[in-house]
Amino acid sequence: MSSVLKVTRYTGKLEFAPMSVRDVEEVVRVENDAYPFPWTRGNFLDSLANRYDAWVLRETDGRLAGYFLLMQAVDDVHLLNITVRPDLQGQGVGRVLLDKVCALAEAAGIYQILLEVRPSNQHAQGVYRHAGFQVIGTRKKYYPAAGTTREDAIVMQLQLGQAQA
Ligand SMILES: CC(C)(COP(=O)(O)OP(=O)(O)OC[C@H]1O[C@@H](n2cnc3c(N)ncnc32)[C@H](O)[C@@H]1OP(=O)(O)O)[C@@H](O)C(=O)NCCC(=O)NCCS
Repeated sequence: MSSVLKVTRYTGKLEFAPMSVRDVEEVVRVENDAYPFPWTRGNFLDSLANRYDAWVLRETDGRLAGYFLLMQAVDDVHLLNITVRPDLQGQGVGRVLLDKVCALAEAAGIYQILLEVRPSNQHAQGVYRHAGFQVIGTRKKYYPAAGTTREDAIVMQLQLGQAQA
């Protein structure tokens, strides 16, 4: 007998807004819940001060559903952080965030998106592959890990304008 994975899709309305300093406290709370090695408040404030393209996605009741931060270069957009609130993960909210990332890149005339992901983060890799990202390399000892050890990063790239999986 085959088992069928039941997937709950998020059916509420979601709204994007640029991330501002006022959002950071709530963003950090979600970040701390979502990662074993989270970005700090200072990392978010520095990113906003550097004018990275940062967005929050909120539910109709105002709760933060997710966020992302991008660094735009001449030929590519680097996705620095993309996060869905843990209790909403696996319901299509990450796809909403990724679609916005792609729309922003295309609006800026940029057709390549790059990101790093931990080899241990199988869910995120699956989401990225499903969106059409391909592995293009690794960065050695990129991430902090247990104790004083470091974990490599897998570098993935999405060429926009190509068929999505
Ligand atoms: C990674 C993250 C942003 C993805 O968001 P999410 O809401 O869980 O992902 P979604 O449910 O929107 O899934 C997106 C798509 O990938 C698909 N997908 C999910 N897991 C998959 C897998 N293992 N293999 C293939 N496709 C998969 C989904 O079916 C969905 O496709 P659809 O929109 O066509 O139905 C989110 O899980 C998260 O915040 N994780 C913790 C923080 C993190 O790891 N961030 C990334 C660091 S690199």
